[in-house]
Amino acid sequence: MQGFAGKVAVVTGAGSGIGQALAVELGRRGAKLAISDVDTEGLAVTEAKLKAIGAPVKTDRLNVTEREAFLLYADEVKAHFGKVNQIYNNAGIAFTGDVEVTQFKDIERVMDVDFWGVVNGTKAFLPHLIESGDGHIINVSSLFGIFAVPGQSAYNAAKFAVRGFTESLRQEMIAKKRPVAVTAVHPGGIKTAIARNMTAAEGLDAGEIAQMFDKKLANTTPERAAKIILEAVRKKKARVLVGPDAKVLDVIVRVTGSGYQRLFSSAMAKALPNAH
Ligand SMILES: NC(=O)c1ccc[n+]([C@@H]2O[C@H](COP(=O)([O-])OP(=O)(O)OC[C@H]3O[C@@H](n4cnc5c(N)ncnc54)[C@H](O)[C@@H]3O)[C@@H](O)[C@H]2O)c1
Repeated sequence: MQGFAGKVAVVTGAGSGIGQALAVELGRRGAKLAISDVDTEGLAVTEAKLKAIGAPVKTDRLNVTEREAFLLYADEVKAHFGKVNQIYNNAGIAFTGDVEVTQFKDIERVMDVDFWGVVNGTKAFLPHLIESGDGHIINVSSLFGIFAVPGQSAYNAAKFAVRGFTESLRQEMIAKKRPVAVTAVHPGGIKTAIARNMTAAEGLDAGEIAQMFDKKLANTTPERAAKIILEAVRKKKARVLVGPDAKVLDVIVRVTGSGYQRLFSSAMAKALPNAH
């Protein structure tokens, strides 16, 4: 169990929410940060917070879906700091819509950012993390990588995929005795901009869904989430459930098996606005 002082940590999607809180908390604990996002305004805010703390920071605009750019970026971060210890594959987007009315392009976009973004980050940085002798990959899935709900098929698919990819990778690192820990993160509702940035299938009011998320579903602050995640990273945990909702629903899924789908389908379909 080691601390974060002197470690080089990469955080994607660091311009807002969980990513910003993770970067700031890592900076407070003495880490050196490589932060990136497509939102350069948000990223500038994170950079200013890190500079105020006195944390060394490298700031770049990076779209996690752009594989070639991600590969180049990994080499740049290594060259800049001389090593890389941790990557937080955190960037993500949300989308709501039933399968019947969702277009292929919407599912592809969610998979591109939420799944392929994680794969790109993992593969781009893995050689550097192994080389560091003390590496850690932290992939942000979701409670929705454990528990599926109506209207979230694209997001559920991407987040279940992140979980499978991450759990397999962890076992590979253990079996091959690579010096890289692997942690899957499953947050419940966290008070961030995710729902406000969300898109939705035609006929759905994304604003209405965002309001409901902000009022009813998001109960944990990003700062609290960051502290919970970093505690799990420090302990090299395989999985971290963030927030009471994630913990309760994880138990329900484990106790009921596939039965949770019958228990929740009507209630969830009623709770979430529908495009019919
Ligand atoms: N907020 C929640 O309730 C919640 C719950 C479970 C999982 N998550 C996951 O946590 C992660 C962080 O989300 P958040 O809640 O902080 O949301 P957020 O919207 O506040 O932050 C996400 C950040 O990712 C960036 N981003 C989006 N697409 C990108 C791309 N292609 N390349 C680079 N950056 C990109 C956005 O600009 C934004 O700054 C996401 O993976 C999300 O799916 C969030």
